[in-house]
Amino acid sequence: MAGLDRRGFIAGAAGAAVGLTGVPSVLRGRDDRLVRLGIIGTGGRGRSLMGLALQRSDCTVTAICDIDPEAIERSHAMFRDAGVSQPAVYGSDEEDFLNLLARDDVDAVIVATPWLWHTPMAVAAMESGKRVGVEVPAAVTVEECWDLVNTSERTGIPCMILENVCYRRDVMAVLNMVGRGLFGELVHCHGGYQHDLREVKFQPGAEFGPGARGEARWRTKHSIYRNGELYPTHGIGPVANFLRIDHGNRFATLTSTASKTRGLHEYVVAQGGEDHPNTEVRFQLGDVVTTVIRTANGETVVLIHDTNLPRPYSLNFRVQGTRGLWMSDNRSLYIEGVSPEPHSWEPFGQYQQAYDHPLWQRYEADATGAGHGGMDFFVVHAFVESAKRQVPPPLDVYAAATWSVISPLSERSIARGSEPMEFPDFTRGRWVDRTFRFGMSDEF
Ligand SMILES: NC(=O)c1ccc[n+]([C@@H]2O[C@H](COP(=O)([O-])OP(=O)(O)OC[C@H]3O[C@@H](n4cnc5c(N)ncnc54)[C@H](O)[C@@H]3O)[C@@H](O)[C@H]2O)c1
Repeated sequence: MAGLDRRGFIAGAAGAAVGLTGVPSVLRGRDDRLVRLGIIGTGGRGRSLMGLALQRSDCTVTAICDIDPEAIERSHAMFRDAGVSQPAVYGSDEEDFLNLLARDDVDAVIVATPWLWHTPMAVAAMESGKRVGVEVPAAVTVEECWDLVNTSERTGIPCMILENVCYRRDVMAVLNMVGRGLFGELVHCHGGYQHDLREVKFQPGAEFGPGARGEARWRTKHSIYRNGELYPTHGIGPVANFLRIDHGNRFATLTSTASKTRGLHEYVVAQGGEDHPNTEVRFQLGDVVTTVIRTANGETVVLIHDTNLPRPYSLNFRVQGTRGLWMSDNRSLYIEGVSPEPHSWEPFGQYQQAYDHPLWQRYEADATGAGHGGMDFFVVHAFVESAKRQVPPPLDVYAAATWSVISPLSERSIARGSEPMEFPDFTRGRWVDRTFRFGMSDEF
């Protein structure tokens, strides 16, 4: 925190926010706190988050960084359309983000680059005294997860994982229901990332690598060299909140098992023909990777990674307790003694209304039109609001590490014949009595 204060964290705090009386204007009912953002990585995701930031009256985007001139050009157009002044621009080489981090007019940064850059950029941001919101997953190795935690603890600068699915409307209603004990004591959950990414991993046609488009430039190589649960956080973030992970409970061990790999090769043949050079590529990533986690409190979690085969999108949620369960795929639930028909599903709709989270009720109008059904609004909102207040973000560095570490642990488990892997305790024992803060108010 001291670092933030030194750098004059709240723009205008010295002038606008503190009046002649010395009483901050926010305490006199006028909130003119402003967060000055830097955005590193202005590809598809970075621009989507930037668009949400540009709509807010409580933040300005003062600097952006991307090594792709087209991404910068498209960003300039967004600033023009928003009618705001253009940001300082970085991206002359892969390390130029360090120059953005050296600026005095950046209080907090969002990192939306390819996965291998997440931790180096987040660590450098914290080292420069800037709060950081990092896209998912926050890290790809066990060591990187520790780097995030150790850097945040040493510098006192918060790191938020920008896990938007935690803010999905049904997920937040279920969080509410879990808190009120509607499912009884939780026993078992499911989550996952079941998303046909073939058109993302190859774009255009059967192409990937530096000359390709979008995520095909960098994401596909993870399917060549790695076999594991490569994208755990959309599925595990909500489940970790349901189970109060790192708040009186923790992930203890996992095992992972991978199916054979067929989907990507077949897709390359279908798109590029039998003679396309990419038919020679041997993909390591199993088409369906199943991870089973056991928690310290005795619940089990099944996590599925399924991105290489034709299928409709689903995050596969299921929350099951001693009194009943919710499943996202059939948008239904069953609660013993409450649901009208024994042994029969009941539509979730009326429960969604009855247990709608206060955050959604308050900010529904602002969230309308934001990405991914509105939930992206909330993740930016939480990052900005916690920065303005200089309080820890609701999805903190321990969440970033505990959720992201699933990837390397699952790779190791698969490589060793589905051997159980122990989770590191990133809280160093404090999980026992840390206070759960996610979604506990209607503020952020
Ligand atoms: N939370 C979500 O719902 C969600 C959705 C999409 C993507 N993502 C995540 O967001 C991140 C970005 O994904 P994307 O779809 O925008 O990918 P993208 O390829 O469209 O954008 C990444 C950008 O980073 C830039 N970049 C790469 N190296 C850089 C460097 N050293 N310095 C500056 N810029 C650099 C690239 O030029 C590119 O413009 C990924 O981690 C992805 O997993 C999250």
